[in-house]
Amino acid sequence: MATVALASRPASVLSKISFGGCTPAGLSAASVTAVQQRKLHHALIPKGKGGRSSSSGIAATVFGATGFLGRYVVNRLGRVGSQVVLPHRCDQYDIMYLRPMGDLGQIIFMEWDAKNKDSIKRALEHSDVVINLVGREWETRNYGFEDVFVTIPQQIAKAAREAGITKFVHISHLNADIRSPSKYLRNKAVGETAVRDEFPDAIIMKPSEMFGREDRFFNHYANMSWFGNAIPLISMGKKTVKQPVCVVDVAKAIINAIRDPDANGKTYALVGPNRYLLYDLVEYIYTVAHRPFLAYPLPRPLYRLVAQVFAMNPFEPWITPDKVERFHTTDMKYPELPGLEDLGITPSSVEQKAIEILRRYRKFRDLDAELVETKPAKTVSY
Ligand SMILES: NC(=O)c1ccc[n+]([C@@H]2O[C@H](COP(=O)([O-])OP(=O)(O)OC[C@H]3O[C@@H](n4cnc5c(N)ncnc54)[C@H](OP(=O)(O)O)[C@@H]3O)[C@@H](O)[C@H]2O)c1
Repeated sequence: MATVALASRPASVLSKISFGGCTPAGLSAASVTAVQQRKLHHALIPKGKGGRSSSSGIAATVFGATGFLGRYVVNRLGRVGSQVVLPHRCDQYDIMYLRPMGDLGQIIFMEWDAKNKDSIKRALEHSDVVINLVGREWETRNYGFEDVFVTIPQQIAKAAREAGITKFVHISHLNADIRSPSKYLRNKAVGETAVRDEFPDAIIMKPSEMFGREDRFFNHYANMSWFGNAIPLISMGKKTVKQPVCVVDVAKAIINAIRDPDANGKTYALVGPNRYLLYDLVEYIYTVAHRPFLAYPLPRPLYRLVAQVFAMNPFEPWITPDKVERFHTTDMKYPELPGLEDLGITPSSVEQKAIEILRRYRKFRDLDAELVETKPAKTVSY
């Protein structure tokens, strides 16, 4: 495919490559051949200067595009002139915010049903890149963690392989582990293996908890101010180490991995630049939000019991026992796995981005307070 033709560029120079701006004759020729072989649309021949109205030569299907990470990935694809197919199960009008992310006709909505194999096949039949962002933080009557993190990714990987797709990106989790107390993380580990078995060249991304405007991490803790600023933390959050990553960096990593021919078959650990004790991180969230911070220790069984009550919410539960476990799991270290830097990305720190997420939690009188007055969160090296 067009992206395959970008072979031989080392990862370190990826950030300097622009899609449309680097369209050597060979690239176009390779694309044309690829286009003819797979009967892809002529719009897939790279052209233009690399902006939204050019053509990057990428046609991507993004499963799970309607979620938190999805909007950043679609925007990154759209801004370089890619064609993006968005399988969705909600009302099309609910996701109209995705439409302006690409040029006219480049963002294509398509209904899909994860349990219907034909609808998966249909969604990716005109693409050369497939990205799986499907996920859910809680189980529903229709879809358990096993469906969302194992069966659906496996079906997508299988359909992608059978369609002859060369780039398949799957998003797992940094702490995916078969021995984890969190069912979410156990299934993520099984899902990784299932995807790798089905599509050996899959690019697996393992981000830590992501922060960004619509996240369910910083916003979760900041929202606890509704309960009187008293934050329950297991062991006061002093036994949990977190290394959150910025959602924009994860989206960039996905796009750069698509462009990097050496990325196929690799697993990436995507983490932020600093490690913090959960206590220090939540304290920093409250400092930036100019809210008083009062943490209290809550024993694990009691925390799980309280979360069990919230988990009965038939809509989006505010907390579940599984989320309690996930948030109190120390982020793993994978020195042997490539990371953001290997994809040409300098990770953004919490201190650089937190204000964008947390300003709205400030009281009116503090809205414009300078960030320089806020002491950075303490970091740890273990
Ligand atoms: N958020 C984090 O901090 C974080 C950290 C590490 C890894 N991850 C992983 O990264 C991926 C994306 O995360 P996210 O935060 O963007 O997730 P998200 O906001 O919960 O979005 C999940 C997406 O998956 C779709 N989806 C869920 N269940 C589905 C089903 N049964 N059938 C069809 N579509 C379904 C949702 O569609 P609807 O809109 O129709 O529900 C939505 O588009 C997930 O795999 C997640 O586990 C997330």
